[in-house]
Amino acid sequence: MSNICKPLTKCLFPVAGYGTRFLPITKTISKVMLPINTKPIIAYGVNEAYNSGFDSMNFVTNQQDVQIENYFKPYKELEKLLKDKNKKNELNMLESINNISNNCKFSYIKQKKIQGLGDAILNAKELVGSEDFGVILADDLCFNADDSVLKQMKEVYEKYPNYCIVAVEEIELKNSHKYGIVSGKQIEDNVFLLDEMVEKPSRQEAPSNLAIIGRYILKNEIFYVLEHTKIGVGGELQITDALNSLAKKQKVLAYKFKGVRYDCGSIDGYMKAQNFFYNLSKEAKISND
Ligand code: G1P
Repeated sequence: MSNICKPLTKCLFPVAGYGTRFLPITKTISKVMLPINTKPIIAYGVNEAYNSGFDSMNFVTNQQDVQIENYFKPYKELEKLLKDKNKKNELNMLESINNISNNCKFSYIKQKKIQGLGDAILNAKELVGSEDFGVILADDLCFNADDSVLKQMKEVYEKYPNYCIVAVEEIELKNSHKYGIVSGKQIEDNVFLLDEMVEKPSRQEAPSNLAIIGRYILKNEIFYVLEHTKIGVGGELQITDALNSLAKKQKVLAYKFKGVRYDCGSIDGYMKAQNFFYNLSKEAKISND
C-alpha cells in the first residue's frame, strides 16, 4: 500500500437535521445556528476545520439553511456603519468571519430526502469529487486548547493514509444506544485498528465502551461502499454500517482524541457547552485585562 496522501482540503458538514429536540425554536432557526456565547454552533465546527488546514467547506443542508450561508457572507452595510462609528471590537467580530470566507470556498447542497448520516454524506459525492475528506458533525462541539480534534486526526491520517479514521471516546455503557460503537485492537497510543462497528447497539450488544464522536476522515471509496450499503437502524442509511464493511477488511482506525466534547444535539449537552465556553471566554477576558 502506498504511503503517499494528497493533503486533505475538503470538510463536510451534514447540517440538514430538523433539530426536533430543540422545538419550537428550530421551527425557524437551524439547530446549528443556535448560539454558544455569541457564535452559532456551526461556526465552532468551521473554525475547527479552518484551523486544521481545510479550505473547502461543504454543507449538506435542508430548505431552511440559507441562514448558514448568510452567516458566512460579508455584511458590507453593517461593516460600513461600524467603521463610521469607530466600533473596532464589533468590526473585528465580523472581520474574523470574513477572514475565513475570503480564504475558503463555501459550497452548499440540499439533501433531497432526510434519510440518515450515510445518506447525507452520499449526497455530497459531487461536491467532494475524487478526494479523501473530513467530516464534522457540528453538534458534537469539541475543544482542545492545543490541537483541535480534526487536526489531531489529520496527523493520524498523514501516518496512515490508506485508512478511514473515526474519533472515539469512552462512554458509560448505558448510553451505547445513542452512538456507533467500535471494537478493535490498539496499535499505538490512542489508535485502534477496528474489526467491528455497530450503530446504536443495546448495552448487551455493544462490542466495547468506545463510541464514535462526530469527527471522521473518510477515504473516497466510502461513496462506493455507501451506494452498496443497505438501510440500517431507524430506517436510515448509516455511515457506521458502510464503515463496518471496511472495518472487516482492516481499513478503519479509531482515534481516541484529546480534548472535551459536548453533545449539543441534547439540551443538557448544549447547556453544558454554554457554561463551558462562557467560562472560557471570561477567563480569556481576565487574562487580557
Ligand atoms: C451519529 C452517528 C453515530 C455517532 C454519533 C456521534 O449519530 O450515526 O454513529 O456515534 O453521530 O454524535 P446521530 O447522533 O446523528 O444519531
